[in-house]
Amino acid sequence: MIEHTLRRTTVAFALLLGSACAVHAQATPSAPDPAFTSFGERSGLGLLATDFVQRLLADPRTGPFFKGSNEPELAAKLADQFCVVLGGPCQYKGADMKTAHDAMEIRKGDFNALVEVLQQSMDARGIAFSAQNRLLAKLAPMHRDVINVR
Ligand code: HEM
Repeated sequence: MIEHTLRRTTVAFALLLGSACAVHAQATPSAPDPAFTSFGERSGLGLLATDFVQRLLADPRTGPFFKGSNEPELAAKLADQFCVVLGGPCQYKGADMKTAHDAMEIRKGDFNALVEVLQQSMDARGIAFSAQNRLLAKLAPMHRDVINVR
């Protein structure tokens, strides 16, 4: 319980912190974030992303957005993107976040729902909370490009 509360507090903090600094998804830091190992490197991120996409489709809040998506293709792009943001030796070849989401109407509530589904997926895969928070902190600033209805 305490761990759970701590973790939620850390996530809230990470999201706040994240909005104060920019993340450059294409940047390649010299060494991977230690969290990259906790996720099981690129292969672990691939398993996570596959589970994540299935949950996104199953969740009534996010499912309608992803109806008709090519699941394996989307999962591979997400895994590559997560790998890159964690400083892993990957290349993300998908669209930038603004372009990828331009054609949809995405609100803050939709963004939060997706983050919650990602947390469920990370929990299910037994990812350490510290590593979860590292990834969430890197993704949080993307809200600026993803949320397009304010
Ligand atoms: C930090 C938050 C998010 C990240 C990191 C993210 C990441 C991505 C990535 C990497 C792609 C693939 C782009 C490509 O095809 O080139 C994508 C596509 C997409 N995203 Fe997001 N996204 C985020 C938030 C959201 C939210 C909040 C929604 C809606 C609830 C959403 C809905 C979609 C949809 C529908 C697609 C197209 C899927 C397809 O059919 O290929 N995303 N996103």
